[in-house]
Amino acid sequence: MRFILRFFKRIYFFNAIRRILSASRYFNKKYFQILQWGFTSNEYTNFTYYLTPGNVQYLAQTLAVVTNVDFTTIMNYIYEVESDEELKSAIISAINQSPEGRYADKEVRFGRRLGWYAMVRILKPKVVIETGIDKGLGSIILCAALLRNKKEGFDGRYYGTDINPKAGYLLSGKYKEVGEVLYGDSIESLKKFDKKIDLFINDSDHSEDYEYQEYCTIKDMLGDKAVILGDNAHCTTKLSEFSFETGRKFLLFHEEPLNFWYPGAAIGFSFKAEN
Ligand SMILES: C[S@@+](CC[C@H](N)C(=O)[O-])C[C@H]1O[C@@H](n2cnc3c(N)ncnc32)[C@H](O)[C@@H]1O
Repeated sequence: MRFILRFFKRIYFFNAIRRILSASRYFNKKYFQILQWGFTSNEYTNFTYYLTPGNVQYLAQTLAVVTNVDFTTIMNYIYEVESDEELKSAIISAINQSPEGRYADKEVRFGRRLGWYAMVRILKPKVVIETGIDKGLGSIILCAALLRNKKEGFDGRYYGTDINPKAGYLLSGKYKEVGEVLYGDSIESLKKFDKKIDLFINDSDHSEDYEYQEYCTIKDMLGDKAVILGDNAHCTTKLSEFSFETGRKFLLFHEEPLNFWYPGAAIGFSFKAEN
């Protein structure tokens, strides 16, 4: 038997097949997950998923480096939103009331937005901008963080931008009190914006040029300790380049979705060294 195996190993074709089968083991599970998701989810864009526990830990460690805040405090902010049943109910109720509610997934999966939430809790920003809001999952989680800050005496306001007039329906109820949506082209809305920005999240038109133009548009509106989060940083290097050009630091956190086929997006962090 061993002789036969050794014989096949020496034949180039069989050896290649053996190696291909061995490498494909890393991906086969993904095909099963795709199949399962195909029949159980109704999402067709802007996929949502949970992160693995280890990945959440790495997210908190990255935030600790960016903000100079200790790891435990950041993990507590993450637990805070993960266990916020009122927020989750508000999201499910907004989904149910939306035109696509009948078919939409009824599970709240924040993914990397946990990092956005923690960043608002850490920075206590007066002004947060998110460009590109889609249904408004980012909008509502960011406003939830602003409401918690408000309870602690730190007022802040959220501004979302979107070209789609139907975007943002998840931003509802009490969460809407601290946030609003500026409808129209994001860069046009940013040009008219007249407040200092403390936290800027880029997630609109994902072409390289547009992303870079957004950063250039807000460059002089950034507060002293402002942080930029790029949602496109796993696809382009524009935030890294902008950071280099403007004397800012850059770090990338990559998502690891839990039991999900999508390889994950990222958060690019652009920040001042003294944060
Ligand atoms: C990936 S989605 C945003 C997801 C959202 N940030 C979230 O947390 O779920 C991108 C959004 O950008 C919007 N968009 C695309 N081009 C835009 C533009 N030029 N100006 C404003 N919004 C734009 C789209 O309508 C879409 O809703």
